[in-house]
Amino acid sequence: MTDTRSTRALVNAAIAAAQNAYVPYSHYPVGAALRTADGTIFTGCNVENASYPATICAERTALVKAVSEGQRQFDAIAVITDTGGFPCGICRQVLFEFAPTLRVIIAKPDGIILHDLPLNELLAYGFGPAHLAHTGDK
Ligand code: THU
Repeated sequence: MTDTRSTRALVNAAIAAAQNAYVPYSHYPVGAALRTADGTIFTGCNVENASYPATICAERTALVKAVSEGQRQFDAIAVITDTGGFPCGICRQVLFEFAPTLRVIIAKPDGIILHDLPLNELLAYGFGPAHLAHTGDK
């Protein structure tokens, strides 16, 4: 598949995922589609909660689904919102753990791509596992 077609497929998966967003409080649906190094796509949506801080974002839903299925290598994520919003700071940090140079594609529900840039531009000088290397943890 060409890059253009695979990018389109990733954006379309994020658009579909946004349909499942549970957003009774913000009414701000977000869809994410995270692609692994082997080309598998894991999707996610935001899932809100009456206890507001318990809400999980679309990007972290997708990441946790993938990691819990044994995946740890990622090359791209597409994120869909009505307004072209970027991943929040918490999601940037959680994605950075696994893929500091992850390609981040920001698009709208009509499929128009607004931004296409590496995660380490969104999270400059990010803190990651390497900084804990002296502890022996990985
Ligand atoms: N949200 C995401 O799903 N991803 C982000 O990166 C930004 C915020 C969600 C959380 C909440 O359900 C709604 O958008 C409004 O903050």
